[in-house]
Amino acid sequence: DDAVVSGGKRVLLAKPRGYCAGVDRAVITVEKVLEMYGPPVYVRKEIVHNRHVVDTLRERGVIFVDEASEVPEGGLVVFSAHGVSPAVRAEAEQRNLRTIDATCPLVTKVHKEVNRFARDDYDIMLIGHAGHEEVEGTSGEAPDRVQLVDTPEDVDKVAVRDPSKVVWLSQTTLSVDETMERVDQLRERFPEISDPPSDDICYATSNRQVAVKAMAAECDLVLVVGSGNSSNSQRLVEVALQAGARDSHLVDFAHEVDEAWLDGVETVGVTSGASVPDVLVMELLEWLAERGWTDVQEVTTANEKISFALPRELRSSGESAR
Ligand code: F3S
Repeated sequence: DDAVVSGGKRVLLAKPRGYCAGVDRAVITVEKVLEMYGPPVYVRKEIVHNRHVVDTLRERGVIFVDEASEVPEGGLVVFSAHGVSPAVRAEAEQRNLRTIDATCPLVTKVHKEVNRFARDDYDIMLIGHAGHEEVEGTSGEAPDRVQLVDTPEDVDKVAVRDPSKVVWLSQTTLSVDETMERVDQLRERFPEISDPPSDDICYATSNRQVAVKAMAAECDLVLVVGSGNSSNSQRLVEVALQAGARDSHLVDFAHEVDEAWLDGVETVGVTSGASVPDVLVMELLEWLAERGWTDVQEVTTANEKISFALPRELRSSGESAR
């Protein structure tokens, strides 16, 4: 009897999950540049934090470099979705590089906020993860005005010149709840701290967290497809556990799932980070189906319709003439 064999095995599939508008735009940008100019195309840093995407583009002739200094003089380089500091732009200019900027518009928005508050002589508390490329780019807009706040201890370490002129901003891909904890701690120290003019954590990050929260308590295991260096993907594992999932793991590919994680498991939640192509989720669903998890129910908490225009250099002539 099938029902006995499969028991209560079911999969809850989060929606929204996977590609956000900024990642979609960045990947299409590189594909178009490849088409227009042919390989090799240089990309500074991983275009998006996903192993499959990066490996696929590398096979097609993309050369990923750490710094603009590694691109031959006069070459063409694409800046990744995470954004770059003015110092990186200056270096590219010095080397006469042609640049195409795939920075997500929602990251650019935070760069502009940093600039505006620095110009108004604020001290800026940037909540984010030390060493993440986005934070390096954002804080590079005003290095002597921005202080990074990552851990609770960092809140005690920051120093401001005028407690009435302090603002907090954030990385776009943080845990919403953890960020608000950090803001509360900052507000305890600086009661007059200003809030960002609009949310810095982007719609895709918060929507994916809302979706995984909605199903986590029903899940014995939540599998998040995403890469280890992807901030928003890592957050989904944490949010799933905080919201009541008994267990949760991040995997790049279905074959990385450890069969032991499935011991005694009935309900498996599945979601994916904002840099993950859905084909990888489909492969995971197949992998689960082969092991008896054939009943898949989608849990929808939002429908996303947002998309971003490509960088100006790549729009069709009809569009750029407007
Ligand atoms: Fe942009 Fe948010 Fe995606 S900042 S790249 S829309 S995760």
